[in-house]
Amino acid sequence: MDRFVIRGGVPLAGTVSVSGSKNSMLALMAASLLSEEPVLLQNAARVHDVSTMIRILGALGVEAVWEADDVLRLGGSEPTATEAPYELVRTMRASFMVLGPLLARCGHARVSLPGGCAIGARPVDQHLKGLEALGAKVELVGGYVEARASRLRGAPVVFDTSTVNGTQNVLMAACLAEGQTRIQNAALEPEVGELIGVLQAMGARIEGAGTDQLTVEGVTRLKGATHRVAGDRIEAGTLLAAAAITGGDVTVTGLCLDQLASVVEKLREIGLELDTRPDRVRVRRAGPLRGVRVTTARFPGFPTDMQAQIMALLCLAPGSSVLTETIFENRFMHVSELQRMGADITVNGRTAIIQGVAGLSGAPVMATDLRASASLLLAGLAARGDTHVMRVYHIDRGYDRIEQKLASLGARIRRIRD
Ligand code: EPZ
Repeated sequence: MDRFVIRGGVPLAGTVSVSGSKNSMLALMAASLLSEEPVLLQNAARVHDVSTMIRILGALGVEAVWEADDVLRLGGSEPTATEAPYELVRTMRASFMVLGPLLARCGHARVSLPGGCAIGARPVDQHLKGLEALGAKVELVGGYVEARASRLRGAPVVFDTSTVNGTQNVLMAACLAEGQTRIQNAALEPEVGELIGVLQAMGARIEGAGTDQLTVEGVTRLKGATHRVAGDRIEAGTLLAAAAITGGDVTVTGLCLDQLASVVEKLREIGLELDTRPDRVRVRRAGPLRGVRVTTARFPGFPTDMQAQIMALLCLAPGSSVLTETIFENRFMHVSELQRMGADITVNGRTAIIQGVAGLSGAPVMATDLRASASLLLAGLAARGDTHVMRVYHIDRGYDRIEQKLASLGARIRRIRD
């Protein structure tokens, strides 16, 4: 297992570009199952979750080939299998998104239930509710979802709770269903909008993009498409937080400002100076930081995937901050490790009270999940002395060569193979 060794205290400076959105790519890779023609993704990030999805598609007999460092060519053939195995699905729950497209394309799919993960139980009941509404016969057998439907039929779907991957799973299935599907309480996250755009380019007939009411007129087949993946909004937010926590001056490019409004607003509230353009943000430390209140919410609210990162920053903001996590039930795994670096945090259920401290001190820390690991990285960049972040495979799941990006901004960070 690799570790990062970070010698903190360097104010980051310079310009850095984000890679393509991991979460968008995972949905788009599943969408490639809907067509016998190839789907080409440009600005594709080389992150571990994408490699896992490539292996899942491979198990289904669907080819995925890197045609350039950031160009991934998918599909262009008939799936030769319709089972996504447990040993792959358990490592990445987003694999569950192959269920809808496989069922719609092949009439059958057997996908392992993803099970929980470090940040919560993360059930998939809404995914199954939506597919059953479209006429699928769904059974749970031996930890797998077995779904069958000779032809899905369009129908009304009302999600009891907003779900990003649930919306994407059902939406992809509805594209090939017979007749009209109306999805209510659809998720508004940008990754849903990006998927809708690509499905429309493939010939799907979808109305309501950007709203929580989607109307789909099913078609019999979909074409291929070529798409440039949007910059990863969470990587962008993480890099902005890295500049903020080190008191630096950094411009992050390749982003989509509309997707980061809540993060930009919060950083300003904390006391950072941000100059914004549609595709880039410059962040500088203008004066002292100040404690704030942060509550994670569905888009366009403050994203849960930025909660751990903003917490690291708030550890150094004078005064107290109140951070409430409303999406996942166990997303404070980073707290104990931040405390070991000298942070003053008290957790009460889904709320963390942070008292700003004068400084953090480097320590050996353990990464537990993707965004918690990013939080420890940020803390290490600001801490006095050396921080060893172990199990960086968590970080590699969602960040493409993050240590190179940070080093290019002056960070003293290196990867050591244990
Ligand atoms: C997506 O996960 C993202 N992952 C997550 O990013 C992100 O944190 C999450 O959306 C919320 O924005 C990908 O897109 C691959 P949800 P998803 O279903 O779709 C409940 C990262 O760090 N729920 O929108 O799985 C569930 O209990 C990852 O990049 C049900 O109850 O999240 C949980 O509390 C982490 N029933 C919440 O919704 C369901 O059927 C999760 O929200 C589905 C979800």
